Amino acid sequence: MENQVRLCCPCLFGLESVLSFEIKKIGGENLEVTDGRIFFDGDLSMVARANLWLRTAERVGIVIGRFRAESFTELFDQTAALPWERFIGVDDRFPVKGSSLNSKLHSVPDCQKIVKRAIVRRFEQVYHQSLFNETGALYQVQCSIYKDMVTLLLDTTGAGLHKRGYRSNANEAPIKETLAAGIVDLARVRGDSLVYDPMCGSGTLVIEAAMKALNIAPGIRRRFTAQDWRCFQDGTFERERREAVAQVRRDAAFLAYASDNDPESVRLTQENAVKAGVASRIKVKRADLSDFRPLDTERPGIVLTNPPYGERLLDLQEAEQICRTMGEVFVPGDRTGYYIISPHDSFEELFGRPAARRRKLYNGSIRCQLFMYFQKPDKHPRGSAESSDDTKHT
Ligand SMILES: C[S@@+](CC[C@H](N)C(=O)[O-])C[C@H]1O[C@@H](n2cnc3c(N)ncnc32)[C@H](O)[C@@H]1O
Repeated sequence: MENQVRLCCPCLFGLESVLSFEIKKIGGENLEVTDGRIFFDGDLSMVARANLWLRTAERVGIVIGRFRAESFTELFDQTAALPWERFIGVDDRFPVKGSSLNSKLHSVPDCQKIVKRAIVRRFEQVYHQSLFNETGALYQVQCSIYKDMVTLLLDTTGAGLHKRGYRSNANEAPIKETLAAGIVDLARVRGDSLVYDPMCGSGTLVIEAAMKALNIAPGIRRRFTAQDWRCFQDGTFERERREAVAQVRRDAAFLAYASDNDPESVRLTQENAVKAGVASRIKVKRADLSDFRPLDTERPGIVLTNPPYGERLLDLQEAEQICRTMGEVFVPGDRTGYYIISPHDSFEELFGRPAARRRKLYNGSIRCQLFMYFQKPDKHPRGSAESSDDTKHT
């Protein structure tokens, strides 16, 4: 149908099941999940919804074509056969970016040039002119080749979706917002959750938790490239944005306690929480991890934390000591669940207890695991989007 599009969202490795769940929640259909990428169908308004609402997607692309190509001729002919004019007008800009992995066509600059020439050839035939000034809206073409399969996309997002607009300032080793959102989902943060981060840095985990709990769309404060596109001049983005504003749950009982022993981190967390519009839900103070105690309350709590790894902050021995201290202050058997992301293979030994479940996640290029220690009263501690790839210890 004319209004239908196939979309593609990349995500961090390990978050595919979380993102699939999010995509289904906003109405995406016919999902195809691959390592680090999810394809799905929707109508044009889905482009706006996906950009506004997906917490763990890195960006949203419209799929223009997918095909196998092992030679430049195959790449050129199949690219020129695609209906680029459905979106890109005669004056618009269409630069090409590329990537290639495990493929015969491995020279990315050459592939970019071929794709550009093929689109120009298409436009010469469709628009009956040979010179294109490219002064209009930006339609960034992305050509990715993996095992000889070419995927051609138009990027609708612009700056990556992890750029929510609240964290212009970060400490030395911030966790990416999309990864923090994935951890928040796996820890099952809800509207009435009580959340802690005793090593909060710039506050990403508690801010993402607050935004999820209050149902604040992560993209609500930012613009997207596709807002300038001709097909979205009918108010689609504005309508979806208004709807997102109406869906904020200000009545949610969510509360978070964030602390750090570094005063600058305390200041940053406060500043970023204000920018994100969740400052009233996050209490921030300077404190050492060794003084951490969950509140003495009936309300179940969730500790989310991203301790120093000993690579960028402190040295390895100090980082290991922090794992031991966490094992002492994160007391088992109470009403609190603990979710710690760490690259240390010996984490459970240092912490002193095996995790109930673990999940492989990448923090940038660092291979980490999320160690999950569930709160006692929850007899069915499955994350909303957990898949069977978690390692279970029971
Ligand atoms: C990797 S950073 C956390 C980054 C954070 N997740 C973010 O997105 O910005 C680790 C934090 O732990 C804090 N930290 C290190 N040792 C600590 C201790 N003993 N008590 C409290 N905070 C500590 C550091 O100051 C740093 O801000």
